[in-house]
Amino acid sequence: MTATVETGWSNPLRDSRDKRLPRIAGPCSLVIFGVTGDLARRKLMPAVYDLANRGLLPPSFALVGFARRDWDDQDFGQIVHDAVRDHSRTPFREEVWERLSEGFRFVQGAFDDDAAFDQLSEVLAELDRQRGTDGNHAFYLSIPPGAFPTVCEQLQRSGLAEQTEEHWRRVVIEKPFGHDLRSAQELNAVVNRVFPEDAVFRIDHYLGKETVQNILALRFANQLFDPLWSSHYVDHVQITMAEDIGLGGRAGYYDGIGAARDVIQNHLLQLLALVAMEEPVSFEPKELQAEKIKVLSATRNVLPLELNTARGQYGPGWQGSTEVPGLVDEEGFAADSITETYAAIAVEVDSRRWAGVPFYLRTGKRLGRRVTEIAIVFKRAPHLPFDKTMTEELGENALVIRVQPDEGITLRFGSKVPGSSMQVRDVNMDFSYGQAFTESSPEAYERLILDVLLGEPSLFPVNDEVELSWKILDPVLEHWAASGRPDTYESGTWGPRSADEMMSRVGRTWRRP
Ligand SMILES: NC(=O)c1ccc[n+]([C@@H]2O[C@H](COP(=O)([O-])OP(=O)(O)OC[C@H]3O[C@@H](n4cnc5c(N)ncnc54)[C@H](OP(=O)(O)O)[C@@H]3O)[C@@H](O)[C@H]2O)c1
Repeated sequence: MTATVETGWSNPLRDSRDKRLPRIAGPCSLVIFGVTGDLARRKLMPAVYDLANRGLLPPSFALVGFARRDWDDQDFGQIVHDAVRDHSRTPFREEVWERLSEGFRFVQGAFDDDAAFDQLSEVLAELDRQRGTDGNHAFYLSIPPGAFPTVCEQLQRSGLAEQTEEHWRRVVIEKPFGHDLRSAQELNAVVNRVFPEDAVFRIDHYLGKETVQNILALRFANQLFDPLWSSHYVDHVQITMAEDIGLGGRAGYYDGIGAARDVIQNHLLQLLALVAMEEPVSFEPKELQAEKIKVLSATRNVLPLELNTARGQYGPGWQGSTEVPGLVDEEGFAADSITETYAAIAVEVDSRRWAGVPFYLRTGKRLGRRVTEIAIVFKRAPHLPFDKTMTEELGENALVIRVQPDEGITLRFGSKVPGSSMQVRDVNMDFSYGQAFTESSPEAYERLILDVLLGEPSLFPVNDEVELSWKILDPVLEHWAASGRPDTYESGTWGPRSADEMMSRVGRTWRRP
C-alpha cells in the first residue's frame, strides 16, 4: 500500500500531500482506560486490530490497557485476542497479530490510585525507549462519565498530560459529555484545565460513519440537490434513530439518562447540523466546525413544548416472534423508573435558508425496526393537472439518507402505473453503498481512533457544539421533569401515541421506515 506517514503537527495551509493516499499514524501509543468494559471489547480493541491489519498503524505502535483486574501483559493479550476474534471486521492474520501484540502492556489500578498512574508513566517512558513511541500518547477514557474529571486530574498530576514541541498528548472522551448544560460546562472546565482544546477529542461515533460523511459529499459535490435544499422546496426534515433492542443489562448507564440525552443531544443534533449547515470555506476542521456551530446557535425548539415534544417508555410487547418485557421489568430498573426510552422533539433553524421548516428528531428503543435515517420531505407540487383519483396514492417527494443499516440513499417520487389509465403512485430510486462499491466501509471507531492518532479533529464535536446542543435540549428536559411519568408504548411499535399526535396536529405523519 502507498501511504504517507504522519510525523507530528501538520499545517493545513502547507499540507500539499495527495489527499487520496491513506495516512499512517506516526510513532505513538494508545492507552485505554476501562479496558475491561463493554465498549473496549466490542469496538475499541477490534478497531485497533483492523487498523493494524490495514497497515495504518506505525510499526512502533503500543496499546496499553488500564483497569482494576489482577492481570499481567499476557492476560491482557489474551483478552484483546478474544475481542479481536469475536468482533473485528477484517480477517485474522497471524503475522499482523504477532507484530501488534509485541506492543501490548497492562497497568493495574483504580482511578484514585496515584501509584498506578506513576507506574503508567514509567511504562510509557519505557515504551518510548524500547519501541520508539517518541512520547506521543493518546488516552482513551472508555469509563463511567463520573470518572472523567478524576482521570484527567491524575494525568495532569503524573505529568502525562504535558505536551511539548517534540511530543503530543491527547485525550479521547466518550459520551455522555455532561447531563445538562451546567454539568457539561463544569466538565469542559476540568478537561480544558488539563488539556488544551485541540488535544481533546470528544467521540460522537455517528460522525465516523461513512454515510454521515457522505452527507457532505452529497450536498457539496453535486449541483443537483443544492437548489432544492431550502424552505422554498423542503416541507420538513425527519431525523430518526430507531432501535429494536431493549435495555436489559444496561440500567447502570441508561436509567436516569434516557433517550434524549443518550441520542438527541449528540448524534441527532450533529446530523441536523450537517444537513442544515452552509458550505464551509474548506474542509479544514475549523471551517467545518464554524458552520456547524452557526446552525446549532440558530436552532430553537418549536413552542409550546407540550405540543411539540413527545416521550415514552416501552411496555411489554412482541419483537418479531419474541415476547419481551417492559422497561420496568428489565434487570436493574426500578418499578417506578420514569426514564424515557423514546423521545421526539421539533426544532427550527432560524436562518434564511430554513425559516419555517421544522426538523423532527426522534429516537427510541424497542421500536419496529433498527434504522437510522434522515428524510428530507419536499412540499407537494403546487398544482396537479390530474383528476383527484389519479393521484390518491401519491405522497410527498422525499430524499432519504439511510445511515444504517443498508447504507445508501433513496429518492421517492411519483410515477405512472403501467396501464391504459393515468394512475400516479410513489416509487423509489435507490443507491446502495454495498452495491456501488466493492470495498466495505470501515467501522466508525476505526476511522475515529486513526484520526485521534493523526491529530485530525474534523469528526469530533468541540466544546461549543456540545454546550450549544445542551442549550437546545435543557428546556425540553426541564419541561419533561415537571410533567410526571412518560407515556407507555407497546414494544415493537413505533412509539407512544403522543408522538403521532404531535405530527397529526400539524398535518404530518412520521415515516415508518
Ligand atoms: N458500551 C457502549 O456501547 C457505549 C456506547 C457509547 C458510549 N459509551 C460510553 O463509553 C464509556 C464506557 O462504556 P462501557 O459500556 O464500556 O462501560 P463499562 O462496561 O461499565 O466499563 C467501564 C470500565 O471502567 C472501569 N472502571 C470503572 N470504575 C473504575 C475505577 N474506579 N478504576 C478503574 N477502572 C474503573 C471498569 O473496570 P473494572 O473491570 O475494573 O470494573 C470498566 O473497564 C462510558 O462513558 C459510556 O457512556 C459506551
